[in-house]
Amino acid sequence: MKKIMLLTLLAKRRAGAEKVRVTMRGLAEELGTSPQSVLRLLDELEGEGLIKKEIVGRKTWVALSEDGLRFLEGLCDSISEAIYNGLILGEVVSGIGEGAYYVRQYAPLIREYLGFDPYPGTLNLKVLFPKVVFDALCGVRPVILPGFVKEGRTFGDVRAYRVIIGGVEGAIVVPSRTIHPPKIAEIVAPVNLREKLGLRDGSRVRVRVVK
Ligand code: CDP
Repeated sequence: MKKIMLLTLLAKRRAGAEKVRVTMRGLAEELGTSPQSVLRLLDELEGEGLIKKEIVGRKTWVALSEDGLRFLEGLCDSISEAIYNGLILGEVVSGIGEGAYYVRQYAPLIREYLGFDPYPGTLNLKVLFPKVVFDALCGVRPVILPGFVKEGRTFGDVRAYRVIIGGVEGAIVVPSRTIHPPKIAEIVAPVNLREKLGLRDGSRVRVRVVK
């Protein structure tokens, strides 16, 4: 852990771009450890080929090796994959009462493309994690509910992402034209989720995106 933190710290100090001068004391303070430990960790990182170290007189210079950079990049990718793995954490909020109308219009398409009769309305979630809801949806292929015209009104395409919320299968629906900022996820489901899961405004829920 400390080793990874030290490597990250060196990268922050731009040791990925060039040789930078470091002091054991400075690194130790930032890592919350002793200068002796930093020296040992630097030796280990060097032994693993992740950094190059040069001591000139009393000065120490450090640079990340190519392997060191790749190691950090790989770690970053694995962490992103792990935490954005189709998880959304949200807080139940009320909308402006328009959900029911729209869900009724799209109900035949939801039945046809998603396979359930939707409860008329959308459960609105303020997305708390990830920072941007699309991070949890990236790499997931949406089901497209094709737009249509009804009684002279145009209803646009809607992207639907299958999800499971409290054991109930539903979908996050993203209209092609939406007044919501992407901080709100709208969920359609076959049942009233507030009733079924005992949710109120402010309740926190976890949603699993089906891949
Ligand atoms: O007023 P708002 O836009 O939030 O609601 P709506 O879309 O008209 O939906 C009516 C009510 O049912 C709201 O309280 C929604 O949160 C809730 N709802 C639900 O619990 N489960 C669903 N599958 C859909 C809506």
